[in-house]
Amino acid sequence: MNTEQKIKKVLEEAVTSLTGKPYSAGKILLQETRKEFEGDLTVVVFPLVKEIRKSPVEIGKLLGDYLVSHLSEIDRYNVVNGFLNLVFTGSYWVDFLNCVNNDTNYGMLKSGDKKETVVIEYSSPNTNKPLHLGHIRNNLIGYSLSRIMAADGYKVVKTNIVNDRGIHICKSMLAWQKWGNGITPEKAGKKGDFLVGDFYVRFEKEYRLQVQEMMNRGASKEEAVKNAPLLLEAQGMLRRWEAGDPEVIRIWKMMNQWVYDGFDVTYKNLGVDFDKIYYESDTYRIGKQIVLDALEKGLVYKKEDGSVWADLREDGLDEKLLLRADGTAVYMTQDLGTATLRYEDYHFSRHIYVVGNEQNYHFQVLKIVLKKLGYEWADRLMHLSYGMVELPEGKMKSREGKVVDADDLIAGMIETAREMGKELGKLDALADNEKDEVFRKIGLGALKYFILKIDPKKNIVFNPQESIDFNGNTGPFIQYTYARICSVFRKGEERGIAVPEKLAENYLPNEKETLLIRLLAKFPRVRKDAAASYNPALVANYTYEVAKAFNQFYHDYSILNEENADVRNLRLVMTRKTGEVLYHAMYLLGIEMPERM
Ligand code: ARG
Repeated sequence: MNTEQKIKKVLEEAVTSLTGKPYSAGKILLQETRKEFEGDLTVVVFPLVKEIRKSPVEIGKLLGDYLVSHLSEIDRYNVVNGFLNLVFTGSYWVDFLNCVNNDTNYGMLKSGDKKETVVIEYSSPNTNKPLHLGHIRNNLIGYSLSRIMAADGYKVVKTNIVNDRGIHICKSMLAWQKWGNGITPEKAGKKGDFLVGDFYVRFEKEYRLQVQEMMNRGASKEEAVKNAPLLLEAQGMLRRWEAGDPEVIRIWKMMNQWVYDGFDVTYKNLGVDFDKIYYESDTYRIGKQIVLDALEKGLVYKKEDGSVWADLREDGLDEKLLLRADGTAVYMTQDLGTATLRYEDYHFSRHIYVVGNEQNYHFQVLKIVLKKLGYEWADRLMHLSYGMVELPEGKMKSREGKVVDADDLIAGMIETAREMGKELGKLDALADNEKDEVFRKIGLGALKYFILKIDPKKNIVFNPQESIDFNGNTGPFIQYTYARICSVFRKGEERGIAVPEKLAENYLPNEKETLLIRLLAKFPRVRKDAAASYNPALVANYTYEVAKAFNQFYHDYSILNEENADVRNLRLVMTRKTGEVLYHAMYLLGIEMPERM
């Protein structure tokens, strides 16, 4: 029986003895004590007023006294309005530390403990340009979530849909054909995704010129935009692509491969990966078939021009295009195919799409259309919608005010970490490659933490300078705290001081020590809440609380130099557990921890 269960049972007895009638523990509400009050657990007294017929404060006192005299775990209590705040004893906390002391995976479940599979889609780029700042947020949220769900016991499939076909891809291809002179990433000395992105930009530039020229010669804007020869050529290319024209397919494969090679480098540098990658060029066909089948069954309908639509007016939405008049697929078509394929592959109990909030409507529609087509599992789809991320005006924003490439941002963060590290000079004893590793971890840690500490739903202004500050709610501050803990144990080892297997109760934690222990005890619940609400920010902000509390503790007390062995032992156990909790919490965010800093 855990403590909460014990408390409920004793409360049951207390109420029964006060009223003379049996009372069931199921009705008793326990919650975490609010920050502003002293306590570890709070009993909500109001529901008992009816049974006991006394004022909430009186009832609180009666129950408080009963609990203190019947449960050795409860030291004292206070009553605030109808809330009975219980304070645990020092020996309760020593017991807790003994319980978790040798559990190096404290607070974490093993993936697979639960049978359900959760599919998490993130990244999902188009193949016409490099990954940018928005993708960074996307990838970080998706990757962190996959770790959080795995640590909650689920089997997790990390997946990606690559939108590798369509008009935007043909634009880069056409520009390369026209103006590329056979250039390749090797010849250009450039990453393939950047090279392809250049041709996309080139297309847009030439196209704009063409439109302008047509307008100068008297065409209306509308007509020019629609009929510029370059655009018509790109559309022709897309038709040839769908028809399987060998030359178009050859260029498509070649250029997409350049992009994939480039993406691989970015993913690796960011520290994210996937279990299974889906490609739109495969799934759009499945999607088309689904729509055609639905048409046959009368679930969707065809308009006069031949286009196929779903009528969602009953659901409060409008009509939705599923196939164009010329029979080609749209964005929705491929998502229908991708979702059904994934369900066949994994029979997921949940499928989470990490996609920006500008696509809220798209995912709302996707779910309803699938439901309409008879896929019961459509209810298991959920869109984790996140807000925009921008840079403050300044150094990291490119001159034209364009989006910032992921590669440049990552490299910039590591560089800044290096400059700051040099100033501090604490790593002078390390070899160059070891220093590089530390700076990489700090630069990435700063980036990841800054982005993940913010609730996914909110917009972010990413401030590189602020993110890398060694004080405050930053990744480097938490990494620094961890490195400090590692250093305690390195010194301990030199001096032959080891962490005990088990604590005796000769010394009970004082109030300040208890603050830190109490936070450590919260880890499993925070981790679980983060999984239940798909919110890495809960883990991030908890990590900050722990790091702050530890630094306070470290400032107030000696650890290795404490002469009383009982006191020292307690502090050693607390310190080691703090290090593990910080390490695991940051692991859940996808952040690596340096042992020196
Ligand atoms: N490639 C799309 C874009 O860049 C995002 C894809 C999101 N995922 C999905 N299953 N539709 O806008």
